[in-house]
Amino acid sequence: MAAVAKVADETGGDTTSTTGVSLFPRYLIQDLNTGETANINTLQPNQYLTFNYPLDNEPNFIMKLGVSAVNGVGPNGDIVAFSDICQHLGCNPGFVYSGGPGPFCNSTYSGKRPVMYCCCHGSIYDVTNAAKVIGGPAPYPVPQVMLEVDAGTGDIYAVGMGPPTIYQHGTAGSTDVTADLQGGTLVGSSSSSSESSS
Ligand code: FES
Repeated sequence: MAAVAKVADETGGDTTSTTGVSLFPRYLIQDLNTGETANINTLQPNQYLTFNYPLDNEPNFIMKLGVSAVNGVGPNGDIVAFSDICQHLGCNPGFVYSGGPGPFCNSTYSGKRPVMYCCCHGSIYDVTNAAKVIGGPAPYPVPQVMLEVDAGTGDIYAVGMGPPTIYQHGTAGSTDVTADLQGGTLVGSSSSSSESSS
């Protein structure tokens, strides 16, 4: 059986039955630069991979936080993924893990928790808590990627996006995530299922 992440809305509520989520491709997460496959057995604490989803030009991070997180997968519930498109004006936030170096724009920053930090105007997203905005001008959390773990291999698939919609998709802050699928080319989807490989 696959482990399916629940996805919280911006208030932390359970929105597993997100409208239109079945339309999203099921996509094996592999790092854009190295080709490394996201796997619960090999990701290391504070490591992140980048991947495009649901469109082939839209970046996301998958991160192993080392601390449990809302909707986290893996044995410690500490693996989460989010859109890397800032909800303020569309820059690309960076991952800053707790105890690690600050972002390039604010080297003295030292967060108590792992965050995504946008250096354009200082928006900070708490990735342990569904990307709740904890600093800066972003009006909404960056949307969380729904993750599914293949119980046989430990590989991690993206299977959907939770609300709110990705920056500049549909109405800002909308819960209609079908808008995330429009305006570009979907990434390729896998035809395999976790049940068949368990
Ligand atoms: Fe990210 Fe402005 S674009 S804070």
